[in-house]
Amino acid sequence: MSTDTADAQVRTIRVGLLGCGTVGGALVDMLGERGADIEARTGIRLEIGAIAVRSASKNRGGGATAGLLTTDARAVVADPDIDVIVEVIGGIEPARELILAALANRKPVITANKELLANCGQELADAAAEARVDLLFEAAAAAAIPIIRPLRESLLGEDVSRVMGIVNGTTNYILTQMTELGADYADALTEAQNLGYAERDPTADVEGYDAGAKAAIMASIAFGAKVAAGDVYHEGISNISAADIAFANRLGYQIKLLAIAERFGDGTDAAPYEIGVRVHPSMVVDDHPLASVRGSFNAVFVEGADAGELMFYGRGAGGRPTASAVLGDLIDAAGNRVRETYHPVPGGPAVPIRPIDDQSSAYYLNLEVADAPGVLAEVAGVFGAHGVSIRSMEQEGLDAEARLVFVTHEATERDIQSTLADLAALDAVHGVGTMLRVIS
Ligand code: NDP
Ligand code: HSE
Repeated sequence: MSTDTADAQVRTIRVGLLGCGTVGGALVDMLGERGADIEARTGIRLEIGAIAVRSASKNRGGGATAGLLTTDARAVVADPDIDVIVEVIGGIEPARELILAALANRKPVITANKELLANCGQELADAAAEARVDLLFEAAAAAAIPIIRPLRESLLGEDVSRVMGIVNGTTNYILTQMTELGADYADALTEAQNLGYAERDPTADVEGYDAGAKAAIMASIAFGAKVAAGDVYHEGISNISAADIAFANRLGYQIKLLAIAERFGDGTDAAPYEIGVRVHPSMVVDDHPLASVRGSFNAVFVEGADAGELMFYGRGAGGRPTASAVLGDLIDAAGNRVRETYHPVPGGPAVPIRPIDDQSSAYYLNLEVADAPGVLAEVAGVFGAHGVSIRSMEQEGLDAEARLVFVTHEATERDIQSTLADLAALDAVHGVGTMLRVIS
């Protein structure tokens, strides 16, 4: 860190950038465009000191000049002339090792790496606390949408009961393209990759791992508890068909991949806290605010005892939206560095995780059955035997059979799964379609 002699008020903070792909490249561009304005507003000059990449020969353009590029990321985090590290490489290693080395060298770290935070967040938070420097990660939950800072600061005194949202831009883009344009799943995924929304391995997006990591991060902050990626139940969207979408729309719902983090109990001996975190495709009733979130947009719906319902909405993926959140964190960390302070990562005790079998929802089921007397009664009897109450039922004639579409009242996952197993075993049931949880 240095003080500019021409203007004693201006402090220069040298940034070590690890990764210069979709997000890192956008950050370099934005620093070039906004650096002077940031300096005028904060008195801090953000100067890129080095950029670590995998391939130094790739042509990157803009401010990522050859003189700044290096393939030696370890040297960047060890360089005494670098004040702050931004990690936008992704994945667990070498990102974990590099961040730990930076923190050990008392350099604040900004990262957008949800996979790493959800798997090793406690280790990184402990290292940041030990070094008394910032570890900031706004971009890791919902890219441009400010949700971490509101949860850790504005809502710190709130009794948050549920955080529920669309937190993966790739899957929301795919589902929107399938719903509105009848697009093919694979084509929509390719488009999402070309637009820079998808992870290096898009399985993380479409199978719900990415949303699960974000849910674990948000649950940890919202509930002041330790929640890791392995605590999250997840299902992805790769089994959702055009027919499922058409059924849902006809019934007045949109299919969305939701991440849901809930706190159960009231913290008393009689009802100790438990946390449930799950990611799955859901049928969201058309008039729910989350139903209208389209394309790569994300939204996070927070429910608190006193604040009531809050919704945070915006761009959940893409280079510049993500770099916008990274830049906000960078300015914050640079200011803290100048003032010699930091924001501790809020921590908390380990809270028991409620298994998915014990969590409840309403459900949508569709069955292909023999169109014969007594079949409906037999099917309804299976629901009743497992204590699952039917809220609505529709029958549609097929060629030689019938399709029954059910929406249930709230039931536990255990009861709905055993209902499904028994229904599938009936001779009169010829096919069990996709089961979806219903959010109204
Ligand atoms: P990219 O794959 O586009 O960029 C990764 C960058 O890291 C590349 O510049 C690559 O170098 C560099 N890199 C890879 N391995 C190394 C290494 N061992 N040492 C030094 N550099 C390395 O990823 P994104 O920019 O899309 O994502 C970065 C992070 O941001 C990830 O954690 C991601 O999950 C997160 N994120 C991304 C969002 C998005 O919309 N893209 C949104 C929110 C978060 P090279 O260029 O030479 O290949
Ligand atoms: N792959 C992620 C998504 C990037 O599609 O949402 C943003 O975290």
